[in-house]
Amino acid sequence: MKKIINHSDFQKFFGTKKLPSIFLKEIKINKLKYRDLSSSENKKIFDLLENTLKNKKLNKSGKKYKKKWNVGWNENLDLLKKKRKNPLIPKYFNKYKYARIGGKIYKTETNFFDYKLLKLITSFIFIKYFKNSRNILEFGAGTGHNLVNLSRFNKLAKLHALDWAQETKKICNLLKKDINIEGHTFDYFNPKVNFSLNKNWSCFTIASLEQVGLNYKKFIDLIIKKKPKLVVNLEPIAELLDKNSELENLSIKYFLKRNYLKDYLNYLKKLEKKKKIKIIKTRKSYFGSLYINGYSLIVWKPIG
Ligand SMILES: C[S@@+](CC[C@H](N)C(=O)[O-])C[C@H]1O[C@@H](n2cnc3c(N)ncnc32)[C@H](O)[C@@H]1O
Repeated sequence: MKKIINHSDFQKFFGTKKLPSIFLKEIKINKLKYRDLSSSENKKIFDLLENTLKNKKLNKSGKKYKKKWNVGWNENLDLLKKKRKNPLIPKYFNKYKYARIGGKIYKTETNFFDYKLLKLITSFIFIKYFKNSRNILEFGAGTGHNLVNLSRFNKLAKLHALDWAQETKKICNLLKKDINIEGHTFDYFNPKVNFSLNKNWSCFTIASLEQVGLNYKKFIDLIIKKKPKLVVNLEPIAELLDKNSELENLSIKYFLKRNYLKDYLNYLKKLEKKKKIKIIKTRKSYFGSLYINGYSLIVWKPIG
């Protein structure tokens, strides 16, 4: 059956009936089409997911992965210099034409379905949580495309793109003529923020903290010390997935295989018990890609 992403998908994801009207317009404009899989297609996909988990060559995230990001973002930098269309879209989008939606896997029928869907998810987050911040930091910002999207909803904020890949800074130097953005070198494994921040600052991570496995404690210490008004993580969070769902369990196993973020939410909950932070919202990733339910939402803030 043919389907289209609509407002009720986002209501279910974010656990709210109230969606801003400008966001509802964006959902309609995007017309993200998809269809059910036949039972044989479905079986093939599950076989593929199970076989992938047996693949010994699958890359693990971590320090030695840095070069791969350099190479990838350098391609985007090149496209930007050459003034090509949509230069900032990472090349890993539009590769597999499948999506996880509400617990099932589907075939997507719109070009760049995955990228457009992420842009819709982040648009909602930016409208809801980042409209009034004066400084906004994205950690692990890559090409900075999320911040460029955010600049549509908050024209006053100074945006900061942080990443261990130097290309991020170079890309931001080119984006500067159009938006209020600055790039910085930043490493989750040795995190430092040396530039000055307005008291009303907030930050987010999107599919970047995932890359550090268990090495997020120094990062959280830094955040607690610097006291942002809000932190939003859109990341793979195994604790929010259902082990009894075959599809979600394959995603949990994939996180482990790739050394993605581990026990992060459990750690935040411990900090909450110690009254160091407050967790404002958690939502299980309602949408996902072929391999993972990678977009769970955690909203929190340091207290005290
Ligand atoms: C999947 S990409 C996501 C990029 C961006 N957030 C987005 O949504 O397009 C992961 C990003 O995390 C960055 N990253 C990975 N490990 C990092 C580390 N140790 N310190 C800083 N950035 C890191 C990579 O360079 C890359 O830009």
